[in-house]
This record gives sequence, structure tokens and C-alpha cells, in this order.
Amino acid sequence: MHLVELTCRGFRGLEAIRFRPGPGLNIIHGDNAQGKTSLLEAILFGATSKSHRTSLESELVRRDADAFHLALHARRRDRDVRLEASWRSGVKRFKVNGVPQTRISDILGKINVVFFCPEDVSLVSGAASYRRRFLDMELSQLLPDYLAALQHYRQALRQRNELLRQSACDNAQLDVWDDQLAAHGRVLVEERGNFVAQLGRLAALAHGRIANGEELRIVYKANVPTDQPLLDVLARTRETDRRQGATTRGPHRDDLELSVAQAAARGFASQGQQKTAALAVKLAETELVTSRAGECPILMLDEALAELDHARSRQLLDAIDKKIQCIMTTTDPGDPCCLDGPGFSHFGIVRGCLEER
Ligand SMILES: Nc1ncnc2c1ncn2[C@@H]1O[C@H](COP(=O)(O)OP(=O)(O)O)[C@@H](O)[C@H]1O
Ligand SMILES: [Mg+2]
Repeated sequence: MHLVELTCRGFRGLEAIRFRPGPGLNIIHGDNAQGKTSLLEAILFGATSKSHRTSLESELVRRDADAFHLALHARRRDRDVRLEASWRSGVKRFKVNGVPQTRISDILGKINVVFFCPEDVSLVSGAASYRRRFLDMELSQLLPDYLAALQHYRQALRQRNELLRQSACDNAQLDVWDDQLAAHGRVLVEERGNFVAQLGRLAALAHGRIANGEELRIVYKANVPTDQPLLDVLARTRETDRRQGATTRGPHRDDLELSVAQAAARGFASQGQQKTAALAVKLAETELVTSRAGECPILMLDEALAELDHARSRQLLDAIDKKIQCIMTTTDPGDPCCLDGPGFSHFGIVRGCLEER
């Protein structure tokens, strides 16, 4: 699938723009604070109703405007699709092919995007909570049953923790929440295990291509592995949990272990290596989305090349499937050997105005 056109007005610091990317690799050049990230954010918001930078939509409106409007026109294999997103005085509206929509689930999946931003390096270098959020977001999009299990698990966890903090904490009541945690937790652990196995294999391949064969390994570290029934573990840790006023074991404490060239990426990898690992995960994600959706998502890479040497930059571009439409930003005026070739389109952005080069 590819984006044919984005039109936008009133969004962030962007002027009213019309962006018509090519079907291949599109490079948006611009100095700092000219609107490169905002352009990608506009596409992301139009496709998913979410921004990666804020959950406050009022921040997305141009400071001198009271509304924004985004329209995306994308070509899918079977048909074209048009999405519109607008916001005015606290009210947001969405349309799919001109028809107003009220549920986010009716918008999601119409235009699939995979987005990399510099903050995604936290996947490698940040706290375990980033990696859990990543797993939960990816799996919730892929599997509706996962989302349901996650919501039930979180609710049961909240209730159990509340109960643990009460002085009259009743065992029979705790049993109820333990059963819930065990039932829904099992779904989370199983699906996370399957997903990480698939993702890890694809990410290792992409990583090898970008980093001259350097090995990336991603291992799922379940806090309670599947061979230990969660119900038994919860029973054993009940007294500890009571003292601490919190549930100390379970999938809410899961993590992923990433290693590059056989050393833990979090402690030992350089910034460039950490970024390469995060990018390899995103390329793997495009493949997973492709196999689920039956066609390639749109790949957006914000400042992906910063911190990568020329060889890795070149190899990253080579590792992107030629069928994928990619929109990437750079502050680099451009090393011609790295940032040019057949299928490349170039754009410049200056003070929110976009021009094709
Ligand atoms: N709602 C807004 N209205 C007007 N300007 C904004 C708004 N949000 C951000 N900006 C401005 O946009 C600029 C940043 O744009 P951004 O897309 O992040 O730049 P780049 O990615 O090119 O470095 C900043 O100067 C910021 O002040
Ligand atoms: Mg930026």
C-alpha cells in the first residue's frame, strides 16, 4: 500500500501543504525545527488517530489556528482509501471514504503504517516498561483476543493490588483475582512468546543485513515461564505480596533481552548499535504487518540515519524491501552515494513549507 497524497492545514508548525510522495524511498530534507517530524506525525495521526509525541490533541493545532484538518489518500492493492481527521475546539472527527466514523477500530488498519522515531531506541536502552508497552501495542493490533486478555489482566491486577493493601485482606477474595490473573496471564505469556520468536527471527535477519552480519538476539524473559503455573506462583508469593502491598510476580513484570554481538545491548551497545537494533525491530515489524495485512505497510523513519555510519546507512536503505513505500527525514543535506538512487524522491521543508526537489 502507498500514500498517494497528504493534505493538511492547521497542523503543528506546518503551513497548508500537499505532499505527494513517490511509491519508493522519499527523503525529506530540512534543518532542525522546520517541520519534518510534524509531517510524519500528520500521516501517523491521520492513519491511527494517535500522535507519538502527545496525547493532547490541542497541542497538534497550529498555535495561531483553532482547528486542523488532515486528509490521506492511499492506494491499496484492491482499492483506494481516503481518511480524514479533523479537530476543532476539542472535538475530533474522522471519516473513511467520506463517511463519518465514531469508533477508532473502524479507522485502524485502513492505512497501515510502521513508524520509527529516535525515542524508539528506548526499546533497547530504556526500562523494561518500554519493551512491555511495545509488546502490548503490537500484539493488541495483531490479535483482538490479546487486547481483551490484556484489559482483563490489568483490571484483575489493579483489584488484587488494592486488596493486598487493605488490612482486612481476605483470602477467598484474593483467590478470585488469582484465578483471573492466571487465566488471562496465560494468554499474554503464550502470545508474547510466539510473537517474540517470530519477531526475533526477522529482526536478526534485518540486523545482519544492516550491520555486516553482526548478531542481534531477542529473547522473551517471562517473569513466570509457561512451565510454572501462574496460579501456583501467586499462591506461593501471597505472603510476600501482602507485605509489599503489590503483586510481585506475573507477566506485568516481563521483559525482553536484546543482545548485540553476544553482549547485552542495554549496557554494552554503542548508540549506533542500539539504533541499528531498534531499526531492525521496525523492519521486522513491517514484515509481520505485511503477512497479516496481505500487503506492505507504509514505513516512516524519523532521523533514522543520524548516528549511523555511511556503510550502515547504505545497508539500511538496501535492507528495506523495494515494494515498501518509505518516507524518511534527514537533517543531512545529503551524501549523494547514500541518499540517492532509482526510486528516490526528494523533498525539502523550510519553516513548515514543503517543496519537491
Ligand atoms: N502546535 C504548534 N503550532 C505551531 N508551531 C508548533 C506547534 N507544535 C510545534 N511547533 C513548532 O514546530 C517546530 C518543530 O517541528 P518539528 O516537526 O519537530 O521539526 P523537525 O522535525 O524538522 O526538527 C518547533 O519549532 C515547534 O515550536
Ligand atoms: Mg524532528
